[in-house]
Amino acid sequence: MCGIVGYIGKDDIKNRLLDGLAELEYRGYDSAGIAILQESDLSIYKATGKLENLREKAKEYSSGDTFGIGIGHTRWATHGKPTEANAHPHFAEFSYVVHNGIIENYSEIKKELTKKGCSFLSQTDTEVIVHLFEENLKEHKNTLVAFEKTISSLKGAYAILLITKNSPETIYFAKNGSPLIYGKGENGIYFASSDAPLIGSASEVVYLEDGEYGYATNSEEKFFLDFKELNPEFKKLHVNKTFAQKDGFRYFMEKEIYEQHQILLETMMGRVLEHDIVFEEFDAGILVGVESIKICACGTSYHSALAGSYLLERIAKIRTHVEIASEFRYKEPILKESELFVVISQSGETADTLEALKIAKASGLKTLAICNVDNSSIVRLADFTILTRAGIEKGVASTKAFATQIMVLWMLSLFFAKFKGHLQKSDIKKELHKMIESAASTKVDEKLHERLKKLSKRFLHGHGFFFIGRDIFFPLALEGALKLKEISYLHAEGYPAGEMKHGPIALADSELFTIALMPKNLLFEKIKSNVEEIAARDATIAAISPICIDSADDMIYIQNSDSYMVEFFEMMVVLQLFALEVSIRLGNDVDMPRNLAKSVTVE
Ligand code: AGP
Repeated sequence: MCGIVGYIGKDDIKNRLLDGLAELEYRGYDSAGIAILQESDLSIYKATGKLENLREKAKEYSSGDTFGIGIGHTRWATHGKPTEANAHPHFAEFSYVVHNGIIENYSEIKKELTKKGCSFLSQTDTEVIVHLFEENLKEHKNTLVAFEKTISSLKGAYAILLITKNSPETIYFAKNGSPLIYGKGENGIYFASSDAPLIGSASEVVYLEDGEYGYATNSEEKFFLDFKELNPEFKKLHVNKTFAQKDGFRYFMEKEIYEQHQILLETMMGRVLEHDIVFEEFDAGILVGVESIKICACGTSYHSALAGSYLLERIAKIRTHVEIASEFRYKEPILKESELFVVISQSGETADTLEALKIAKASGLKTLAICNVDNSSIVRLADFTILTRAGIEKGVASTKAFATQIMVLWMLSLFFAKFKGHLQKSDIKKELHKMIESAASTKVDEKLHERLKKLSKRFLHGHGFFFIGRDIFFPLALEGALKLKEISYLHAEGYPAGEMKHGPIALADSELFTIALMPKNLLFEKIKSNVEEIAARDATIAAISPICIDSADDMIYIQNSDSYMVEFFEMMVVLQLFALEVSIRLGNDVDMPRNLAKSVTVE
């Protein structure tokens, strides 16, 4: 997930672009860059890391108050490491482009362009856009036609801004799958990935729709869809910047829950193919000599690790053991070089997890990090890394990072199973469809959200919550309990449903709230009898299931599917929204709950 900005005017172009990029910081940056074209002079600056590195690089340059056009970009690495060469804007001979999204067919386009003699400086998918544009310009001689030909060749998600010396007063734009806003104000024309950078500059905006494209100069603007001209409706821009960074949601956590279905597609992009699973970060050699897997993590990442262990054993048939990092590092663990040591961390900076990784490295184990922040300490230390591509997660309570960790562990299970010969192509294809269905199942159903808003008012007191589940739904129960604890401050425990009768059921009474995860496709009869045991003791039960549970006081229905993993992802969203709504009702700061930090870099 990246951020792009554009400007046409004469009001200090450089700082308008840089200030616009600063408003997109919640989209994260591994690198940033700007390109400015004034008459025929083109200035381009790129820097890795935070935006201040780019400001430093461009500080001597002043765009003055002469008319010009400019584009800018903040990058969250998806294809290619966060190097300067991979930073946008990307360029060919005389054209420059910034892009947010993923061009799925970039490899084929790159091959064709290379045959035509194009040379590429970066590993990114984006760079093909600008070379393809110049090839089309050679053929069609008309800039707009060349741009139309270019975007109609692209498959995947994109928000594109392109400038060219061939048309030095014009910004070409296109939107498909990734957000792009066009704005107008008294000092010029503006483009941005969200409205935060436009506030205070643009007075009216167009939220471009998929398939729309066009061009703008200081005196002309054209919008098209399917090669036909459009007259889009301009809207007034609201003025609250923080509200804007949340794209209209009440909290970053809420926004991050709502974007999971798109984020998961980015996590899968380029890895989940028609009939195959591939990781550009490593090949099957990673498993040579490996007889078992040990996973170490903390908090929510520990829960995804636990869930992943069910998948790795069930699908890849690899013995997998999971440990809490803060326990592992002091227990004088017995490690074998035949173990693949996996660490999972959203931030890549969690002290306990980092120390566990150091212990594994010192013991000569092969190490793999599943992480959301490239260039973090854990990523730099691990032998191999899979980036989860969740984008910056601002809410302290992790949601989309957890979802992407589960998806990566599922993909990894399939990848290892394929390598070990446990899965045929046809089996892989079936699993891939379940993955895509699972990602789609995380799209929030507004009616479900309303239901949970209402239900939450019943759960604001009592002497505690049990979240219960079996098999892979036990780690999900742990996660649901943690979500509720950390933002509502109410006590909650995740528990294996089969274990309740071994003691905890003594707590059961009408003041004990039990949230039961009851998938149709995995051990349904077992969990049903566990719930009946508790219901018989008068506990208050909310069941999450596609099936009506007579013994439950409340039902939260999920869609009827034939995959327990689809049920897993859908129940995950229910638990996240439930915790969010209880916390909001209690008047807590959902995004920055008391006593917590987003990254625990201390012991
Ligand atoms: C998750 O909601 C919590 N904020 C916390 O448990 C977090 O998962 C834990 O601190 C691990 O962080 P990491 O994934 O960045 O290593």
